[in-house]
Amino acid sequence: VSVIQVMLGDRSYPIAIRSGSLADVGEAIAKELGARRAFVVTTPRVAEAHATAVAAGMARVHLAEERLLVPEGERAKTLRTASRLYDELLDRGAERGSVLVGLGGGAVGDVVGFVASTFLRGIPLVQVPTTLLAQVDASVGGKTAVNHPRGKNLIGTFYQPRLVCIDPDVLATLPARMRRSGIAEIIKVAAIWDAVFFAWLESNLEAVMRLVREPLEEAITRAVAIKAEVVGLDEREAGLRALLNFGHTLGHAIENVGSYRGATHGEAVAMGMVFAAALSESRGLCPAGTRARLVALLARAGLPSAAPDWHAQRDAYLRAISVDKKIRDEKLGFVVLRELGRAEVIGLAPAEILPEGTA
Ligand SMILES: NC(=O)c1ccc[n+]([C@@H]2O[C@H](COP(=O)([O-])OP(=O)(O)OC[C@H]3O[C@@H](n4cnc5c(N)ncnc54)[C@H](O)[C@@H]3O)[C@@H](O)[C@H]2O)c1
Ligand SMILES: [Zn+2]
Repeated sequence: VSVIQVMLGDRSYPIAIRSGSLADVGEAIAKELGARRAFVVTTPRVAEAHATAVAAGMARVHLAEERLLVPEGERAKTLRTASRLYDELLDRGAERGSVLVGLGGGAVGDVVGFVASTFLRGIPLVQVPTTLLAQVDASVGGKTAVNHPRGKNLIGTFYQPRLVCIDPDVLATLPARMRRSGIAEIIKVAAIWDAVFFAWLESNLEAVMRLVREPLEEAITRAVAIKAEVVGLDEREAGLRALLNFGHTLGHAIENVGSYRGATHGEAVAMGMVFAAALSESRGLCPAGTRARLVALLARAGLPSAAPDWHAQRDAYLRAISVDKKIRDEKLGFVVLRELGRAEVIGLAPAEILPEGTA
């Protein structure tokens, strides 16, 4: 078992990582929170594969489990779903001593977190992430969100869970393509923060991808530890936390412009990381060969290993990366690599990121 502590004063909390721990979530909740009722929010697909183990563990410690279903994937992240959850919680008499448990991917985690942070001005939240992306990224750090018709994640709060329980075994039911999305975020944190971990991934990537127990646990633990450390230093993204956006400026643009229709978030971020590494290298900010090492690792993970072809749609890409859509030359924080394991945010105008006529 590894336990990573997120250090945020009186809001500190543990993230426990252990194979087979799904059945012990109930015990951990009873012990750490002393709650008597648990509302488990999940999706039909995850419920079918994993909710029984959670429920059995809760029954064992006499924790009353009630299940609330939300739609699969991004469709869960709406005010409508949140509102429906408030109704159900009120109907069933949830109160401050109840705990909300998010069992699912990042989408479930985001909407459950949002509801937990607002219902009765906040009730205890436990995250049980079931995708690799949610385990190493979304469940750590306390960002909650629902989408708005005008854009993703526009409505949300910062609200830390009381406990995060990660069981790598649940990844066995996850489609391979979704696993790779999580691998992209693991490679990301290694690239910005930990050269030793990056080298470790170069030696162990295939084993992690095959879900071999020990290396998988190790990879999750190291990735979670890095994100926890960064969040502990900068909870509200005033500075350091922005490093976690490595590859995301272009990654989000790829998702918004839609020129790579069907690309997963991880695939878009992989292309964005290659782009950012190339930019870093061409500006002399990192040693030659940095980009090549990153590309090689991404390729082994089955992720895209080329920067996006933005030239043909430069205007759309410029619009997508601009913070203020009206001010074209306003600088934005762009994450560059100084070497593998060390990154930095520099101010660049959109037109400096995507210069004219370089195709
Ligand atoms: N809060 C944060 O800091 C943060 C960080 C990164 C991403 N996110 C959010 O996370 C979301 C993406 O999360 P995701 O990639 O986990 O996808 P997801 O939550 O959309 O899940 C995708 C699908 O996989 C299913 N699924 C989940 N676990 C499974 C399992 N073990 N076996 C089989 N199927 C399973 C889900 O039910 C869903 O249908 C986005 O909405 C993104 O904005 C949030
Ligand atoms: Zn991401």
